[in-house]
Amino acid sequence: MKVSLRIEQLSAMVCKPYTHVWDCCCDHGFLGQLLLEREQAGCVHFVDVVPALMQQLEVRLEQDYSRHSWLVHCLDVAQLPLDKYTDDQAPQLIMIAGVGGDLLVDLVTAIRQAHPGLPLEFLLCPVYHNYKVRRALAGLSLGLVNECLLEDKQRFYEILHVSTESAEPVSAVGDRMWDFSSAVHQSYLLQTISHYQRMSGNPRQDVSAELTAYQGLLPDFVCS
Ligand SMILES: C[S@@+](CC[C@H](N)C(=O)[O-])C[C@H]1O[C@@H](n2cnc3c(N)ncnc32)[C@H](O)[C@@H]1O
Repeated sequence: MKVSLRIEQLSAMVCKPYTHVWDCCCDHGFLGQLLLEREQAGCVHFVDVVPALMQQLEVRLEQDYSRHSWLVHCLDVAQLPLDKYTDDQAPQLIMIAGVGGDLLVDLVTAIRQAHPGLPLEFLLCPVYHNYKVRRALAGLSLGLVNECLLEDKQRFYEILHVSTESAEPVSAVGDRMWDFSSAVHQSYLLQTISHYQRMSGNPRQDVSAELTAYQGLLPDFVCS
């Protein structure tokens, strides 16, 4: 199966076995299928709201992964039935990638509110609004497990692995993901600062906190 660098990187960041993994907003379900191939999960749950997509995916999974354990759910990710799968009390891994930051925050918030006592891990890759996502995760008492920055097809992506069991704060602008000796990372930081500089010209939007926080990384960049 040929998948994007972004999907490959997400799969590589699942580096321990889980009993239940949820590929949310899965579309064609490539990420979940990679995990089935790597036998990284007891059961992979594929979730999307579009019935036609989920019917096609089910046919494909029956053809190619009949010996693996998977389930297809056609529903809103805000309604994940996590309570049904708490057999071993181990954290379930919820992956949400390829959706905008605002929707991603709404989904993670709904899941946390619906299951306040469950140990959960999230692997997240928003499209845009990384600062907002990071602030929201910190507010939902989720701590950092790992984070990374990558460029795929001329777009930058931040990937965040967070957990209810981690006490490591989630930085608003990223911390351990940065490698300021990398040209890709330098270019992402400069592009992000330029973006907020342009936005700061709009009197209806206050992005001074974002701009100051990203500019605060410049000394690290210059020293590297
Ligand atoms: C661009 S695709 C992302 C596919 C894949 N996760 C990726 O990273 O490439 C976005 C998918 O999210 C689904 N989606 C959007 N909102 C959703 C929700 N609230 N619940 C479930 N699926 C949703 C859409 O139907 C669509 O298939």
